[in-house]
Amino acid sequence: MATSTMVDARSAELRRRAEELTPGGVHSNIRLSAPRVFFERGQGAWLWDVDGNDYVDHLLGQGPNFLGHAPAAVLERVAEACSKGMVYGGQHELELEAGSRFLDALGWPEMVRFGVSGTEMVQAALRLARAATGRDRFVRFAGHYHGWLDNVLLAPTEDGSGTVASEGQLASHLEDSFVLRWNDADALAELLGQHGDEVAAVIMEPFMCNSGAIAPRDGYLRRVRELCDAHGVVLIFDEVITGFRLALGGAAERFGVVPDLATYGKAMAGGFPVAALAGRADLMERFASGVAHAGTFNSSVMACAAIAASLEQLTAERPHERVEQHGRAVMEGIERLARDHDVPLRVQGVGMAFHVSFGEDRTVHDSVELQQLDLERYQRFSEQLVAHGIWVASRGIWYVSTAHGQAELDAVLERFEATLRAGEV
Ligand SMILES: Cc1ncc(COP(=O)(O)O)c(C=O)c1O
Repeated sequence: MATSTMVDARSAELRRRAEELTPGGVHSNIRLSAPRVFFERGQGAWLWDVDGNDYVDHLLGQGPNFLGHAPAAVLERVAEACSKGMVYGGQHELELEAGSRFLDALGWPEMVRFGVSGTEMVQAALRLARAATGRDRFVRFAGHYHGWLDNVLLAPTEDGSGTVASEGQLASHLEDSFVLRWNDADALAELLGQHGDEVAAVIMEPFMCNSGAIAPRDGYLRRVRELCDAHGVVLIFDEVITGFRLALGGAAERFGVVPDLATYGKAMAGGFPVAALAGRADLMERFASGVAHAGTFNSSVMACAAIAASLEQLTAERPHERVEQHGRAVMEGIERLARDHDVPLRVQGVGMAFHVSFGEDRTVHDSVELQQLDLERYQRFSEQLVAHGIWVASRGIWYVSTAHGQAELDAVLERFEATLRAGEV
């Protein structure tokens, strides 16, 4: 079992070698701010590193491992399908099974295109909205993440307007968007009242997971839907995290509001690199008549087998209530432990995706309010959690999978308490 004095000699050695081969020793900048652990394997809700330490995993690869690590039915289906080849440069029958399981699970969209990353699906959605409306700009919200490309990457500013987040990012590309605070329907009404005829799309995480785990206020999504309809604007839900996780039908099902288009990724394919754009047929059909969307690996055999097997399992098992209950037990458990230790921990969200930080115990409604919490303290605390055998992100998000059960709950609470007892909060 992991302890605060866990050994990391092999990870340290591999880290040195990785830094010679790869900028920063990582292949995604998100990992620059995480402890540089090298993992050997994952199974269910657990990870093992190369030094023999084990971790209860509440990061789940940033979300994709909703079925836990190495889900047997998905792996078997992928291996069997791929034994007959992987990329044909043409169609294959598994695309139809994956496509119809996908649309059936979600319930509302009429057509789907598969891709490889959420980043590219967001761009496809924005392009489609522009083509359909003949307008150029879009509305997005502070704290929402829609991938790392120039027109959507945004660093937070105190007033929520946002600014370029990377050297080399074209600031001019951010001029395509209006940035608003989320969860404020009046602000959107005012903006669309003034600029509605320039706006092709409103894009949002319908339950914000990239900054906190923040639910829409009662009636907010419905009002956004009405405003988009009134101004002829395409409503895009970015469900790359929430899709298939918040409910089988994602945030759209959970909150009962249907967008025109939605992007998906992560939880849809049992850990395999797959993404999707789905929506109304009259919009989606434009991909066959003038709107470009392409990708060598789109709908590969591996992708379609992984989607089909994952969605078959999710549809048959309907695990969301169980996952929600497990997450609630973790949320309540760590809150109780923090109270016992007189630590001002705050937890917000839903069982399958919640956010942990320090600060005043009140509900926050957008990323500007979130920035007022003590996020740096949690960042330091998260490193101690990792050192005690709980694999979590420094930005506070905790995910739960279908593989988390009583043993994981017991282990996580024991390790959380050991971290608090170590007093390095
Ligand atoms: C809401 C949302 N949209 C888009 C993306 C980009 O997806 P990807 O990392 O697959 O490119 C992410 C990634 O975390 C995300 O959380």
